[in-house]
Amino acid sequence: MSKSNTETGGPRPLFTTRLGVIATTVGSAVGLGNIWRFPYEAGVHGGGAFMMLYIAFIIILGIPLITAEYALGRATHRGIFGVFRALKAHRAWNALGYMGVLSAMLILSFYSVVAGWTLEYFFGAVGGAYTDVSREGLHTVFGEFTSGWRPLMWTVLFLVVNYLIISRGVARGIERISNVLMPLLFALIIIFCVNSLMLPDAAAGLTFLFKPDFSSLTAPVVIGAMGQAFFSLSLGLGCMLTYASYFNERTDIVKSATTTAALDTLIAVLAGVLIFPAVFSFGYSPEAGPKLVFEVLPAIFNEMTGGSVWASLFFFTLFIASLTSTISMCEIVVVFLCEEKKMKRRSACAVTIAVALVLGLLCAMSFGYFTGVELPLIGHPDFFSWFDYGTSNILLPLGGMLTSVFAGRVLDRKVFNRQITGSERPSALSRLIGFSLRYICPALIAVIFIVNL
Ligand code: TRP
Repeated sequence: MSKSNTETGGPRPLFTTRLGVIATTVGSAVGLGNIWRFPYEAGVHGGGAFMMLYIAFIIILGIPLITAEYALGRATHRGIFGVFRALKAHRAWNALGYMGVLSAMLILSFYSVVAGWTLEYFFGAVGGAYTDVSREGLHTVFGEFTSGWRPLMWTVLFLVVNYLIISRGVARGIERISNVLMPLLFALIIIFCVNSLMLPDAAAGLTFLFKPDFSSLTAPVVIGAMGQAFFSLSLGLGCMLTYASYFNERTDIVKSATTTAALDTLIAVLAGVLIFPAVFSFGYSPEAGPKLVFEVLPAIFNEMTGGSVWASLFFFTLFIASLTSTISMCEIVVVFLCEEKKMKRRSACAVTIAVALVLGLLCAMSFGYFTGVELPLIGHPDFFSWFDYGTSNILLPLGGMLTSVFAGRVLDRKVFNRQITGSERPSALSRLIGFSLRYICPALIAVIFIVNL
């Protein structure tokens, strides 16, 4: 992708290759959501039943909703706010635009903290800091690290790297680096899965992940699985919509939506196969929460010859995977500031990163300085979990529900059909997706919200 039109005032640049489309959207979707958040959410919510539900939500809600975001983005070549103006929608729809920008900022903030952790672990692994550490030791290492000042430093550094990339436009460089590192990440995960499966108590982990115990199916499990599906697919706040505004007319959006969803889900499931056998063999609790992966992964690497090399490689790729996700979050806000507030791209990037810095530092301090500071949401007492829970489980599904109503009911059907089939007439596929957007998606999300209340 070349310079943004928002900077030059010229026509919007478009992705020229199919690879560009896949690399950027998969780059956005695949990240900490798959490797860090999925295992810890599955662990907290009972394993198998959570995973089945998560996959069901990807198919029932995820694919139609990515298609809807793609259709809206490509039809207008605008971001989450401009799309409603371009389609001359009622002003009330602007609320969805604001919600998107707000959620993007909140997610960017806590996500940058975890991305900072990957940097600490990368440099730690390079220096061999975890090789001789016992399992209890790894627990202490994580606790001491996150309650100190170093996470603040890494959060700042990570956000500065984001600034350097996005202020130059979502440049070629990031596309190229994801083309190389995404397959590498995939290969590494497979290698670690094999290692993990050879551990003594691997079967217990697999049973936990793949054998659904539907008696554990409670309202929090359902809403957690739905939230995870939205989070992992970068869905509900116009992220995919913003990227689709760079698609050209030849992109087959249903096919691209399905590919993105399939690859994203595959990586999440593999991350589960990698983590849970180790959790059970090493005697960790699957319910450890956000720290789960950071304590278990180094333990797996310790079992392998050349462990610190593998570990460094892994945390570095995880860092890149996080980066390709955060730049997609930044892009939502930057496009909003450029299109709606008429800012220059560079200033828009500076504002986005500055706000993320303030909020990010609040999240980074959640594990130490702010222990004991209570926020008003039962069970989620700190900024970090509050942003995490509030965006994934509330704002994203709500955004998804409104998007489905807009794409299914407000958007002119001819415009919708042209995006799906290339002509104004409907096809079986565009009817199916349209039906899902009009009835299934809004109703399902609404029911889950109501039950959860
Ligand atoms: N999907 C990414 C992940 O799994 C996170 C992400 C990127 C995201 N952009 C987003 C989440 C927009 C919600 C909305 O790591």
